[in-house]
Amino acid sequence: MLKNFWYACEFSAAVTTKPKQVRILNQKLVFYRNAKGQLIALQDRCPHRGAALSLGWVKDDCIHCPYHAWKFQADGKCINIPANQPGIPIPKNARVDSYPIQEKYGFIWLFYGDLPEEERPPIPPLPEFEDPSLQKIFFEYELNAHYTRTLENDMDMSHVSIIHSKSFGNGFALEQKMEDYELNVGDWEGHAKVNVRDYTKAKDLFAFVFRPLKANVKVTLGFYMPNITRLVVDFGRGK
Ligand code: FES
Repeated sequence: MLKNFWYACEFSAAVTTKPKQVRILNQKLVFYRNAKGQLIALQDRCPHRGAALSLGWVKDDCIHCPYHAWKFQADGKCINIPANQPGIPIPKNARVDSYPIQEKYGFIWLFYGDLPEEERPPIPPLPEFEDPSLQKIFFEYELNAHYTRTLENDMDMSHVSIIHSKSFGNGFALEQKMEDYELNVGDWEGHAKVNVRDYTKAKDLFAFVFRPLKANVKVTLGFYMPNITRLVVDFGRGK
Protein backbone atom coordinates (compact mmCIF):
# COMPACT_ATOMS: atom_id res chain seq x y z
CA MET A 1 0.00 0.00 0.00
CA LEU A 2 1.44 3.36 -1.05
CA LYS A 3 0.16 5.43 1.83
CA ASN A 4 2.35 8.53 1.55
CA PHE A 5 0.54 10.13 -1.38
CA TRP A 6 -2.49 12.30 -1.98
CA TYR A 7 -5.42 10.24 -3.24
CA ALA A 8 -8.37 11.70 -5.13
CA CYS A 9 -11.09 9.75 -3.39
CA GLU A 10 -14.40 11.57 -3.85
CA PHE A 11 -16.01 14.33 -5.89
CA SER A 12 -16.14 17.65 -4.00
CA ALA A 13 -19.83 18.07 -4.77
CA ALA A 14 -20.67 14.70 -3.19
CA VAL A 15 -19.80 15.76 0.38
CA THR A 16 -22.12 17.97 2.44
CA THR A 17 -22.85 18.49 6.13
CA LYS A 18 -24.41 15.02 6.07
CA PRO A 19 -21.78 12.39 6.94
CA LYS A 20 -20.69 10.18 4.07
CA GLN A 21 -18.71 6.97 4.22
CA VAL A 22 -15.79 6.70 1.78
CA ARG A 23 -13.83 3.50 1.33
CA ILE A 24 -10.24 3.76 0.14
CA LEU A 25 -7.08 1.69 0.66
CA ASN A 26 -9.23 -0.92 2.38
CA GLN A 27 -10.18 1.61 5.07
CA LYS A 28 -13.54 3.10 5.98
CA LEU A 29 -13.54 6.85 6.50
CA VAL A 30 -16.26 9.38 7.14
CA PHE A 31 -16.29 12.75 5.36
CA TYR A 32 -18.44 15.75 6.21
CA ARG A 33 -18.40 19.55 6.05
CA ASN A 34 -18.69 21.99 8.93
CA ALA A 35 -20.89 25.11 8.85
CA LYS A 36 -18.13 27.03 7.01
CA GLY A 37 -18.00 24.36 4.29
CA GLN A 38 -14.61 23.03 5.42
CA LEU A 39 -14.02 19.33 4.95
CA ILE A 40 -13.30 16.89 7.74
CA ALA A 41 -12.11 13.29 7.29
CA LEU A 42 -12.17 10.85 10.21
CA GLN A 43 -11.86 7.14 10.74
CA ASP A 44 -15.38 5.69 10.44
CA ARG A 45 -15.34 3.57 13.55
CA CYS A 46 -16.41 4.78 16.97
CA PRO A 47 -13.86 3.83 19.68
CA HIS A 48 -16.70 3.00 22.09
CA ARG A 49 -18.55 0.04 20.51
CA GLY A 50 -17.40 0.27 16.91
CA ALA A 51 -20.46 1.89 15.31
CA ALA A 52 -19.99 3.67 11.97
CA LEU A 53 -19.89 7.41 12.62
CA SER A 54 -21.12 7.94 9.06
CA LEU A 55 -24.55 6.75 10.29
CA GLY A 56 -24.60 9.55 12.86
CA TRP A 57 -25.25 13.28 12.49
CA VAL A 58 -23.38 16.59 12.47
CA LYS A 59 -24.26 19.32 14.94
CA ASP A 60 -22.11 22.24 16.19
CA ASP A 61 -19.50 21.21 13.56
CA CYS A 62 -18.99 17.90 15.40
CA ILE A 63 -20.01 14.40 14.38
CA HIS A 64 -22.18 12.41 16.80
CA CYS A 65 -22.09 8.64 16.97
CA PRO A 66 -25.47 7.05 16.16
CA TYR A 67 -25.23 4.53 19.03
CA HIS A 68 -24.64 6.48 22.29
CA ALA A 69 -24.10 9.95 20.76
CA TRP A 70 -20.47 10.46 21.72
CA LYS A 71 -19.47 13.76 20.17
CA PHE A 72 -16.23 14.07 18.15
CA GLN A 73 -14.61 17.28 16.99
CA ALA A 74 -12.65 17.80 13.75
CA ASP A 75 -9.33 16.50 15.12
CA GLY A 76 -11.05 13.23 16.12
CA LYS A 77 -11.15 13.92 19.87
CA CYS A 78 -14.34 13.01 21.78
CA ILE A 79 -15.58 16.05 23.69
CA ASN A 80 -18.86 14.79 25.15
CA ILE A 81 -20.23 11.48 26.46
CA PRO A 82 -23.94 12.09 27.13
CA ALA A 83 -24.36 9.17 29.58
CA ASN A 84 -21.62 10.43 31.93
CA GLN A 85 -22.38 12.56 34.96
CA PRO A 86 -21.02 16.14 34.70
CA GLY A 87 -17.38 16.37 35.75
CA ILE A 88 -16.38 12.85 34.73
CA PRO A 89 -13.27 13.20 32.56
CA ILE A 90 -13.30 11.90 29.00
CA PRO A 91 -10.85 8.99 28.53
CA LYS A 92 -7.74 9.78 26.50
CA ASN A 93 -8.37 6.98 24.03
CA ALA A 94 -11.87 8.26 23.24
CA ARG A 95 -10.76 9.52 19.85
CA VAL A 96 -10.60 8.55 16.18
CA ASP A 97 -7.89 9.23 13.62
CA SER A 98 -8.29 12.36 11.51
CA TYR A 99 -6.66 12.86 8.11
CA PRO A 100 -5.26 15.78 6.07
CA ILE A 101 -7.59 16.62 3.25
CA GLN A 102 -7.67 19.11 0.35
CA GLU A 103 -10.05 20.09 -2.41
CA LYS A 104 -8.63 20.64 -5.87
CA TYR A 105 -9.84 20.25 -9.46
CA GLY A 106 -13.30 19.25 -8.21
CA PHE A 107 -11.97 16.29 -6.22
CA ILE A 108 -11.34 15.63 -2.55
CA TRP A 109 -7.74 14.53 -1.95
CA LEU A 110 -6.82 12.56 1.14
CA PHE A 111 -3.39 12.00 2.61
CA TYR A 112 -3.45 8.72 4.48
CA GLY A 113 0.26 8.51 5.29
CA ASP A 114 2.49 9.73 8.10
CA LEU A 115 4.85 12.22 6.43
CA PRO A 116 4.95 15.77 7.81
CA GLU A 117 3.35 18.37 5.58
CA GLU A 118 6.62 19.74 4.13
CA GLU A 119 7.75 16.26 3.00
CA ARG A 120 4.57 15.16 1.26
CA PRO A 121 4.63 14.64 -2.51
CA PRO A 122 2.40 17.17 -4.32
CA ILE A 123 -1.07 16.68 -5.71
CA PRO A 124 -0.48 16.01 -9.44
CA PRO A 125 -0.56 19.19 -11.55
CA LEU A 126 -3.68 18.98 -13.75
CA PRO A 127 -4.11 22.57 -15.02
CA GLU A 128 -6.69 21.51 -17.62
CA PHE A 129 -9.25 21.43 -14.80
CA GLU A 130 -8.73 25.18 -14.31
CA ASP A 131 -8.79 26.09 -18.00
CA PRO A 132 -12.11 27.87 -18.71
CA SER A 133 -11.87 27.02 -22.41
CA LEU A 134 -12.20 23.32 -21.63
CA GLN A 135 -15.39 21.52 -20.67
CA LYS A 136 -15.01 19.34 -17.60
CA ILE A 137 -16.89 16.07 -17.45
CA PHE A 138 -16.97 14.01 -14.25
CA PHE A 139 -18.16 10.44 -14.18
CA GLU A 140 -17.62 7.31 -12.19
CA TYR A 141 -17.43 3.61 -12.95
CA GLU A 142 -16.22 0.59 -11.09
CA LEU A 143 -13.81 -2.04 -12.41
CA ASN A 144 -13.39 -5.45 -10.89
CA ALA A 145 -9.60 -5.46 -11.18
CA HIS A 146 -6.50 -4.47 -9.27
CA TYR A 147 -5.84 -0.76 -9.77
CA THR A 148 -2.37 -1.35 -11.22
CA ARG A 149 -3.97 -3.35 -14.07
CA THR A 150 -6.28 -0.46 -14.77
CA LEU A 151 -3.42 2.06 -14.85
CA GLU A 152 -1.45 -0.19 -17.15
CA ASN A 153 -4.41 -0.49 -19.49
CA ASP A 154 -4.83 3.31 -19.65
CA MET A 155 -1.26 3.69 -20.90
CA ASP A 156 -1.12 0.69 -23.22
CA MET A 157 -1.29 1.97 -26.77
CA SER A 158 -0.68 -1.32 -28.56
CA HIS A 159 -4.03 -2.86 -27.57
CA VAL A 160 -6.14 -0.09 -29.11
CA SER A 161 -6.20 -1.38 -32.69
CA ILE A 162 -7.02 -4.90 -31.49
CA ILE A 163 -9.61 -4.93 -28.73
CA HIS A 164 -11.15 -1.59 -29.73
CA SER A 165 -11.26 -2.43 -33.43
CA LYS A 166 -15.05 -1.93 -33.50
CA SER A 167 -14.98 1.52 -31.88
CA PHE A 168 -12.29 4.19 -31.51
CA GLY A 169 -9.55 1.79 -32.63
CA ASN A 170 -11.22 1.11 -35.96
CA GLY A 171 -9.05 3.49 -37.96
CA PHE A 172 -5.75 1.76 -37.33
CA ALA A 173 -4.22 -1.06 -39.29
CA LEU A 174 -5.04 -4.39 -37.64
CA GLU A 175 -1.41 -5.08 -36.87
CA GLN A 176 -0.46 -1.51 -36.11
CA LYS A 177 3.27 -1.11 -35.39
CA MET A 178 4.44 1.06 -32.51
CA GLU A 179 7.24 3.52 -33.16
CA ASP A 180 9.95 4.46 -30.70
CA TYR A 181 8.62 7.10 -28.33
CA GLU A 182 9.96 9.97 -26.32
CA LEU A 183 9.86 9.51 -22.56
CA ASN A 184 9.93 12.30 -19.97
CA VAL A 185 10.28 11.33 -16.33
CA GLY A 186 9.96 13.55 -13.23
CA ASP A 187 10.14 12.87 -9.50
CA TRP A 188 6.54 11.67 -9.29
CA GLU A 189 5.48 11.30 -12.91
CA GLY A 190 6.31 9.93 -16.35
CA HIS A 191 4.98 10.79 -19.83
CA ALA A 192 5.46 9.02 -23.15
CA LYS A 193 4.85 10.81 -26.45
CA VAL A 194 3.60 8.33 -29.01
CA ASN A 195 3.02 8.88 -32.70
CA VAL A 196 0.75 6.40 -34.47
CA ARG A 197 0.81 6.63 -38.23
CA ASP A 198 -1.84 6.24 -40.90
CA TYR A 199 -5.03 6.36 -38.99
CA THR A 200 -6.98 6.10 -42.22
CA LYS A 201 -9.92 3.81 -41.78
CA ALA A 202 -12.03 5.45 -39.09
CA LYS A 203 -15.74 4.86 -39.53
CA ASP A 204 -18.94 6.61 -38.55
CA LEU A 205 -18.59 9.03 -35.65
CA PHE A 206 -14.89 8.30 -35.31
CA ALA A 207 -14.21 9.43 -38.86
CA PHE A 208 -15.71 12.80 -37.98
CA VAL A 209 -14.14 13.24 -34.56
CA PHE A 210 -10.67 12.05 -35.25
CA ARG A 211 -9.43 13.87 -38.31
CA PRO A 212 -9.62 14.73 -41.92
CA LEU A 213 -8.64 11.99 -44.30
CA LYS A 214 -5.10 11.04 -43.58
CA ALA A 215 -3.01 11.91 -40.54
CA ASN A 216 -1.02 10.62 -37.67
CA VAL A 217 -2.53 10.38 -34.21
CA LYS A 218 -0.37 11.91 -31.52
CA VAL A 219 -0.92 10.67 -27.98
CA THR A 220 0.77 11.55 -24.71
CA LEU A 221 0.34 8.86 -22.11
CA GLY A 222 1.09 10.12 -18.62
CA PHE A 223 1.21 8.77 -15.11
CA TYR A 224 1.41 10.44 -11.70
CA MET A 225 2.11 8.56 -8.50
CA PRO A 226 0.30 6.77 -7.07
CA ASN A 227 -2.71 6.21 -9.33
CA ILE A 228 -3.49 9.05 -11.75
CA THR A 229 -3.25 8.66 -15.50
CA ARG A 230 -3.44 11.53 -17.98
CA LEU A 231 -4.00 10.97 -21.69
CA VAL A 232 -3.70 13.76 -24.23
CA VAL A 233 -4.91 12.75 -27.68
CA ASP A 234 -4.55 14.98 -30.71
CA PHE A 235 -7.51 13.98 -32.85
CA GLY A 236 -6.65 16.19 -35.78
CA ARG A 237 -9.81 18.24 -35.22
CA GLY A 238 -8.88 19.11 -31.66
CA LYS A 239 -7.35 17.73 -28.51
S1 FES B 1 -20.64 3.06 19.81
FE1 FES B 1 -20.30 5.14 19.44
S2 FES B 1 -20.99 6.12 21.19
FE2 FES B 1 -21.23 4.03 21.64
